[in-house]
Amino acid sequence: MTTMLATRPLAAHAWPGLIATYRDYLPVNEATPVVTLREGNTPLIEALHLSRLIGRSARIWLKFDGLNPTGSFKDRGMTMAVSKAKEAGSEAIVCASTGNTSAAAAAYGGRGGLKVFVLVPDGYVALGKLAQALIYGAEVIPIQGNFDQAFALVRQVADQYPVTLVNSVNRYRLEGQKTAAFEVCEQLGEAPDWLCIPVGNAGNLTAYWMGFSQFYQKGLVRKRPRMMGFEAAGAAALIHGKVIPIPNPETIATAIRIGNPASGVMAVASARQSGGTIDAVTDQEILEAYHLLARHEGVFCEPASASSVAGLLKCHDQIPEGANIVCVLTGNGLKDPDTALKGCTLRHSAIAPTLEAIAMAMGF
Ligand code: F0G
Repeated sequence: MTTMLATRPLAAHAWPGLIATYRDYLPVNEATPVVTLREGNTPLIEALHLSRLIGRSARIWLKFDGLNPTGSFKDRGMTMAVSKAKEAGSEAIVCASTGNTSAAAAAYGGRGGLKVFVLVPDGYVALGKLAQALIYGAEVIPIQGNFDQAFALVRQVADQYPVTLVNSVNRYRLEGQKTAAFEVCEQLGEAPDWLCIPVGNAGNLTAYWMGFSQFYQKGLVRKRPRMMGFEAAGAAALIHGKVIPIPNPETIATAIRIGNPASGVMAVASARQSGGTIDAVTDQEILEAYHLLARHEGVFCEPASASSVAGLLKCHDQIPEGANIVCVLTGNGLKDPDTALKGCTLRHSAIAPTLEAIAMAMGF
């Protein structure tokens, strides 16, 4: 007798990717060749330790977008940008990147049969991200310069050669990324009171604001959150309510080591419109939040992502009683093993494989 394995309608299994899920809200049509890795549908995890730490009956949630297929929120934008590039007949894409955009472009571009070129600042891309771009088959071009210089160059490249630019100035990128705000609303049953988010090239803050605004205008939620963006202090070009470029940005959070954010004007306007703000957090504050998240919440994000939580802790005295606050964790900690290992010490050197030695090492 044979038994059949019953198929279970697991939510994650049934999830078809964000273009299929939010088709009505996205600029796609029947002719769009959808390139997807079933991105999106990432968990909203309650941060119990942080909520206790903050007090005020506030509830803190982590939107862990590091659980996307290539380990960052960039997959949301890239499924759109690559699908639309293919629809337009493009055969190649290009981007400048601090690492995550290049990983996503490499994966989606390769899957879509496109040639992928990525320009990265030499020596300032976390190891895992570089490995991703290479293994997915992108042409990786390191430059002797920072992200801002790489970005200025790819703009010229895309103007002069037959390649589609897939940085977040490509409007389809933000369209894809706004779906994270839809998911947050659906997961909470309402928009949060605050949204804390890292800011680098400043596209994602703008994308979330677009998403919340769209659900609000449709009457699906009754409010929109205060948008609280956080740059790294060594790369804080937006904190005075306008774009004041930083020529030599420096931060341990290499993902947001950006001195002249391309979407800075839009991000500043979105934060202002929401009643929120863009502030800066130091590397020390970022690292503290990074370790707190791993140790007490069981969530390993990359350093840049922890700036949302560092910012929340910095602004804790402004948090209203009973607020629902979402901190966006944009990327996976596994992408940057060097920073993780640097901040921890292996307390034991290898010991004899005996019960006695192990018991002693354990302090029994
Ligand atoms: N968090 C992570 C992990 C990122 O990789 C980035 C940007 C940001 C936050 C900031 O988002 O630019 O929309 O304000 N990374 C880009 C890249 C620049 O090339 O991967 P933003």
